[in-house]
Amino acid sequence: MQSTRRTLSSLLALATLIAAAVTSSPTVALAEKFYEDVRRIDQALRTNPNKVIDQAIESCRVRRNAAMKLYEVGQHTRAERRLRHCFDTLQIPLEVKKAVVKVPTPEELRAKAAKEIERALTLQPNAEDGLKIYRECAACHMPEGWGYTTGLVPQLAGQHRQVIIKQLADIRAGNRENPLMEPYSSVESIGGAQAIADVAEYIDTLEITIENGKGDGSDLALGKKLYEANCVRCHGADGAGDPEKYIPRIQAQHYKYLVRQLERMLEGKRKNADPEMLAQVKGFNPSELDAILDYVSRLTPPEELQAPPGWTNPDFAQ
Ligand code: HEC
Ligand code: HEC
Repeated sequence: MQSTRRTLSSLLALATLIAAAVTSSPTVALAEKFYEDVRRIDQALRTNPNKVIDQAIESCRVRRNAAMKLYEVGQHTRAERRLRHCFDTLQIPLEVKKAVVKVPTPEELRAKAAKEIERALTLQPNAEDGLKIYRECAACHMPEGWGYTTGLVPQLAGQHRQVIIKQLADIRAGNRENPLMEPYSSVESIGGAQAIADVAEYIDTLEITIENGKGDGSDLALGKKLYEANCVRCHGADGAGDPEKYIPRIQAQHYKYLVRQLERMLEGKRKNADPEMLAQVKGFNPSELDAILDYVSRLTPPEELQAPPGWTNPDFAQ
């Protein structure tokens, strides 16, 4: 039973991963455009917004019906020509004026996330409710919260409550892109600030695996030297981070995930990057960064936070 549940949720996660890779079909988009045009014409036929004469209305009505028939038998170009006649005679503009969407500034995104973080931190968390939410997350993050050594999905186990809260709030506010996970972590799917507080409380209790994905180990001495000179100050000598400052635990994180995060930050796609850290990271060449992150992936948490060999999450046992 348990393995069936796991297989099902993994399949679901896999389907999502694949769906994200497939872009929507252009044929579907064209059909949507045609029916949208018909809808606009029908509305104009009803309300006659430009007060055109009755003959124009009648002429459009005939062509509109012809267009529908032509479209249904696959005569798309002819059908669209009929509709264009309607747009002309009813004097309605061909294109709907796009509403001007204001792109929020980085400050606005941060302010939006900050509000939710503040709220989630003041609420009393409930780990039991957190587990209920986490069951959905486990489809990708795995019941143990270990993600995948390929780095596609990060290890969440043991991540500081405050950091989980901040990352979830950032993702929801649009301050960190994560299109794959967005639908599973939205307010609509899991609820407001209380849900974030609860699931973060639960994740904090998961045991950390040190069987995470690592680099090729080719330049660990350089990695150690650069890590100590640049990163220790914030992330700590063992990569444990600092929950009070929302600095993530990066020890035992999958190497390829670490690499991807720094790449995203450098490309400006992970907008919530720490500015001081970003300036620093820009100063390294790719092989230096590799060496640092390989070293980071080998840092380990104190023994009491590590999963004992063979540990599986008992909350997922039946
Ligand atoms: C469909 C798969 C999927 C589901 C379901 C999912 N996640 Fe994720 N999650 C990901 C991926 C992929 C990433 C890494 C994205 C990236 O590379 O930036 C991620 C990243 C995260 C991060 C950021 C970790 C870090 O180290 O910065 C947090 C926190 C997180 N997820 C929490 C959750 C929670 C809580 C849930 C359930 C409410 C959830 N996720 C559900 C795929 C998923
Ligand atoms: C000034 C403090 C500071 C310094 C120095 C710093 N970091 Fe960070 N780092 C942060 C903060 C804060 C975050 C979280 C940003 C956010 O909210 O997303 C972070 C996030 C990260 C992440 C993403 C982790 C995740 O789970 O998504 C990685 C990887 C990382 N840092 C690596 C490094 C490395 C390697 C160095 C040294 C070259 C370094 N950092 C130096 C403050 C710092």
